[in-house]
Amino acid sequence: MISQTWHIIVNDRPARVTGDADDPLVFALRNELGLVATRLGCGLEQCGACRVQIDGELAWSCTTTLGDVKGRQVTTLEGLADDPLMTALREAFARRNAAQCGYCTSGVLMAAHTLLVGRRGWTRGELADALEGQLCRCGAQHRMLAAILAADADG
Ligand code: FES
Ligand code: FES
Repeated sequence: MISQTWHIIVNDRPARVTGDADDPLVFALRNELGLVATRLGCGLEQCGACRVQIDGELAWSCTTTLGDVKGRQVTTLEGLADDPLMTALREAFARRNAAQCGYCTSGVLMAAHTLLVGRRGWTRGELADALEGQLCRCGAQHRMLAAILAADADG
């Protein structure tokens, strides 16, 4: 593989990164663009720490490659800093101490945001099922679910 320059769109802005076509997106986000909210955990689509949105859909940035995102819109947690729904989610997490060590939190917030953009009025059971792929080693799932339900209800 030959390292090359990639022109991608991240958080509504053009960005230029370098790498191979099969390099994971998360490396470019963190190491080249300084967007460190996106975390690398398992690297295997098993933990959800690396979640971003691509064209508005939830995606794993650990297995999505630079070649995959050519011409597509990548959104990270930083890109939703002023988004009203993400603000409501962040505030609900803070009020309920839903982030413990915080390693999983960005991925959970991105997943929750995608779900609530899709529809509102989630039940706790539906949310728990939908977020099954978001692992939290600290055991903060109950507080996270309560926070997301609160943001959904407030919406
Ligand atoms: S780092 Fe991508 S799912 Fe775990
Ligand atoms: S808050 Fe620590 S892994 Fe979830």
